[in-house]
Formats: sequence, structure tokens, C-alpha cells
Amino acid sequence: MKFFLDHLNLNIVKTDCIVVGVFKFGELTMSADILNKYSDGYISQLINQGDINGEIGTHLLLYNVPNIISKRILLVGCGAKNNFNLFCLTKVIKKIIPMLNKKSIQNIFFSLTELHCNKNQIYWFIRKIISDVQKEIFDISTFLRKEIYLKSITFDIEDKNLLLLAKTAIQHAKAISAGLIAAKKLSNLPPNICNPLYVSLQAEKLSQIYKDNIEVKTIDSKKMKSLGMHAYLAVGSSSKNKPYMSVIQYSTKNTLNKKIIILVGKGLTFDSGGISIKPSQNMHEMKYDMCGAAAVYGTLIMAAELNLPLNIIGVLASCENMPGGSSFRPGDVLNTMSGKTVEVLNTDAEGRLVLCDVFKYIERFSPNIVIDVATLTGACVTALGHDVTGLFSNHQTLVNNLKEAAQQTDDKVWQLPLFEEYEKDIKSNIADFSNVGNRGAGAITAACFLSQFTKKYHWAHLDIAGTAWESGINKGSTGRPVELLSQFLLNISKLNEC
Ligand code: BES
Ligand code: ZN
Ligand code: MN
Repeated sequence: MKFFLDHLNLNIVKTDCIVVGVFKFGELTMSADILNKYSDGYISQLINQGDINGEIGTHLLLYNVPNIISKRILLVGCGAKNNFNLFCLTKVIKKIIPMLNKKSIQNIFFSLTELHCNKNQIYWFIRKIISDVQKEIFDISTFLRKEIYLKSITFDIEDKNLLLLAKTAIQHAKAISAGLIAAKKLSNLPPNICNPLYVSLQAEKLSQIYKDNIEVKTIDSKKMKSLGMHAYLAVGSSSKNKPYMSVIQYSTKNTLNKKIIILVGKGLTFDSGGISIKPSQNMHEMKYDMCGAAAVYGTLIMAAELNLPLNIIGVLASCENMPGGSSFRPGDVLNTMSGKTVEVLNTDAEGRLVLCDVFKYIERFSPNIVIDVATLTGACVTALGHDVTGLFSNHQTLVNNLKEAAQQTDDKVWQLPLFEEYEKDIKSNIADFSNVGNRGAGAITAACFLSQFTKKYHWAHLDIAGTAWESGINKGSTGRPVELLSQFLLNISKLNEC
């Protein structure tokens, strides 16, 4: 899909379809008004007849409009003039993209960009339109398995002063979409294909694609053993698919900001629960237990596509949790890489066991910021549902920066507390910690467990158990929180002029 910027008189634009807006009660937008004048009142005549009323989501496709060269004009309802915003754009895109594709339309001239109301908003308009269009196209091709005819969208930008901002928006949106789609594709794969080795090979491929910027180190189970990562190894101990940890190091030559940002992704390619086995209903969804790793992988693709002037290390903690004769068991005491011991009370609380060893391992990079992304607890789904990611941290500035990025991208997060009081829930009388609490607040006690291993750096934990995928007939990875993480990194790199 290609995106262009242009400004042409609408009567001579030569495209398959011009998309223009009509507000509620039939009020014309600027472009609709221009087309109306060229066509001697053709559009207002249709409105007066009641063919379209401008309610959001309504649309009317016109052919052979008098005095217009383009093959078609699509009138789209934009709702009340004063209420038009980014959310309205999403509603419009969701309606029109499947419809335009069905008609085998290839090239679109898109005038709704004129509806922005201030200079900066053009950036967000274009970002939003492109990301929504890419999501729609992904869904149409993967779930409906339909051919994609759409080839290009040209955004109508009249004010030359906005061109640079609009160009930046296209560049950012394309890179973020590329990352998001890569994350979705990896997470959607079945667990018999996407096992820990497969994930590590995907990571290694990044160093070939982005030769100048990415180096990948793969830590196999032998190396893990010599490093003392016994908690991580215990989780993978009974699967014939051995654990692999990928360390993706991204940097550029012109990186002035020497800070090291580490993104850690939980990558359980399948979580059966192990000996504390999960109920069989919906167990298949536990192939998505690697969505954190996939999101980190996608975010690194975004960074490399934009050549962000940052040092980012992505760690994909891949592993498979299976029951078997060599499984770790409830009752086991594990010696973690940090030297702290953990009593296993439930083998299904495996994510934190894998992550705690990763947190120790990454100390060698002296990171300034560490963010982990994990489908960690069902309790987070109970607390926040499926639209909001759980956010935990030991550093409030980091929280504020993540919240800002979440607000900018509508990739929502909500902070939950890490009060000291929760620590007693993960106490054990035979080890330093137990791996589960038993007095409620399961998302928090899990985060509290993690926080015991992240004291050496500023750290945030994103529990994406509720937001990483959708169930049911539209089942599939959402790619969250690639947009949030991408925006967070863009804000840090100050590439984003907005
Ligand atoms: N991967 C699951 C968390 C999960 C469950 C995510 C359902 C999305 C939907 C995690 O490994 C897990 O099993 N957690 C347990 C922890 C419990 C044993 C303390 C859970 O949430 O039930
Ligand atoms: Zn899990
Ligand atoms: Mn589990």
C-alpha cells in the first residue's frame, strides 16, 4: 500500500475514487462543496432527496458525476461538524475500506484530511488513517481471505506548510504498521510451527534484514544452564521444544542519546500450565502467550524502519510450558540466576519464573529503562478487561511517559499499585519467594514478584493478558502494545515534532 500527498483541483483529479465528507444535516465539507459546484449542484440535489444525511458511517458511492474526471466519488457521513475527531476517522475507515476493496478500487484520493483543525492535528490524522487502513487490509486478507485491490491513497494537503508534518506522519505510520503487522503475524502462528526455536530464527533474520543496525545473540538452553538461569530452564524442562532467548541489539551510528532501553517480551509459545494443567476449554488460546515477545519483535522492526537514534535491546524470552515426566512440579524450589530462591506453588505461574531470570541477565547491559511486556495473569483480565493493559512500575516518570504514549495512540493502559503490603503475599517459609499469592490481586502479586528482580533499574511492566488477542470468531492477535511502545520510543527520540 502506497501513500502520497498532493493537492489538485478536484475536477481534474484522475483516480478511481475521490473520498469526500458530508456533515450531519447534509452540510457540505469544503471538498464536497467544490465538487458540488463543478457538478452544477449534483451533490446537494442528492442530499436534498435524502440519499445521504451525513450521519457518521453512512456513505454513498457516485458514478459518472457531471464534469468530474475521476470514475467515482464516495460521499461519507462525518457526523456533527463540531464533533469531528480522530475516533470519527476510525469509524469512517472501518466502513469504507472493505466497501472500496470489494469494488476492486485501486487508487483513492482522500479529502478528509482537510477536516483537521490545527497544524499538529494533520500529523495525527494521517497517522490514524494509515494505521486504520492497514489494520482493515490485514483483517480483510487474513480473516476474510479476500484479495486486496487497494494500491494507493493520496491525501489532499492544500497548505504547503503542512507537507513536512504530513510526510513525517506517513513515514511514522508506515513503520509502526509494519511492526504491528509483523507482531500479529508472528503471534497468530500455531504453536506447532511457532515454537521457541522458530521465534529465535525470526529474531536472527532481523540481523540480516537490518544489517547495519541490528545484531542478534541467541542464548540456547546449554548457555542458560551455564548462566544459572534455572527458573527459566525449569519452565521449559519438559518440552521437546527447548527454550531459546533472543537478544536483539539495535543501535545507529548517529545515536547521541546513549541511554539503553531494554524491552523484554514473555514468549511462551504455548502455556499448557504444566503439571498445574489448565482446563482444556480455551487452552488453544495459550498459543498467544508469546504475544509479549511478538510485540517486542514488532517494535524493533519499527525502530529499524525509522532508524531511530536510540539504543534498544529487545529480549524475546521464548519457552514452552508442558506437562511431562521431566516437568518441574508444584513444591519444587528453584535457584534463580539472581541467587534468590523460589518455591513453585503452581507451575502455571510460569511467566514470572522466565522473566525473573531475564531481569537478572540484562543487568550486564546497565539499562536505563526496562519495560517488560507479558500476557502474565488472568487476574489482569478480571481487573481491567480486554481494552486496557495493566501498567506497573518502580518509577513514576516512566509511568507518566508510558501513559502519555498510550493517550497519543489510544493504546490504553491503567496503572495498578505496587504497595509494599503485597510483598507478604509472595512470602515462602522455605524459599525467598513463592511464585503465587493466595489472597487476591493476582495481577499485582505477579508484578510484585517481578519487582523483586528489577531493583537495579527503572522498570515498567505491561500485563497484556486482556489486550494481546481477541477470542471467538474474530480470534487473532491485536498486535498490542506495539503502537504504545513505538510512540514511547518516538517521544524519547524527539523525532516526533508534535
Ligand atoms: N499465560 C497465563 C496468563 C493468562 C491467562 C493470560 C488467561 C491470558 C488469559 C499465565 O501464565 C498464567 O497461567 N497465570 C496464572 C497465574 C496463577 C496460576 C497464579 C493465571 O492467571 O491463572
Ligand atoms: Zn503463561
Ligand atoms: Mn501459565
